[in-house]
Amino acid sequence: MRDAVTGRSIPGAQLIVWQPNQFGRYENEDDSQSADNLRGKLRCNADGGFSILTVRPGGYIIGREDTEVGVLMKRLGRNRQRAPHIHYRVVHPGYRMLTSQVYFAGDPANPVDCIFSTIEDHIVAVRPHPERDNYQLVELDIAMEPEASR
Ligand SMILES: [Fe+2]
Repeated sequence: MRDAVTGRSIPGAQLIVWQPNQFGRYENEDDSQSADNLRGKLRCNADGGFSILTVRPGGYIIGREDTEVGVLMKRLGRNRQRAPHIHYRVVHPGYRMLTSQVYFAGDPANPVDCIFSTIEDHIVAVRPHPERDNYQLVELDIAMEPEASR
């Protein structure tokens, strides 16, 4: 975590993450998952860094066809596909709260994500983990905007 203006690290910034499982299901909509599965809160270390070990989420379809969201998307001529992503929110005193999502480079669903959120700034490279066989590593650089900068 770093300051978007100075580039300095932000020790102790709070990071909140939530994501679906590998099948694209959030725990609150899937009885097979325990409460709060794949949801977490942590604080950045003294260097503003953090690490999370998790599963790569699957994409999902938003809103059934008979819901307001489903009807709206149909009227807009949009599909209802969400590309795989992990949600996050960062909070720290003196900074504007940031809520965003991170997507994975090369995912075939990125070009068709129905909420137009798969912009370049939200997509991270995926590479083999250098120390763990069969794991992948992504690195996410999050910059927080100081409240006084606007
Ligand atoms: Fe989501």
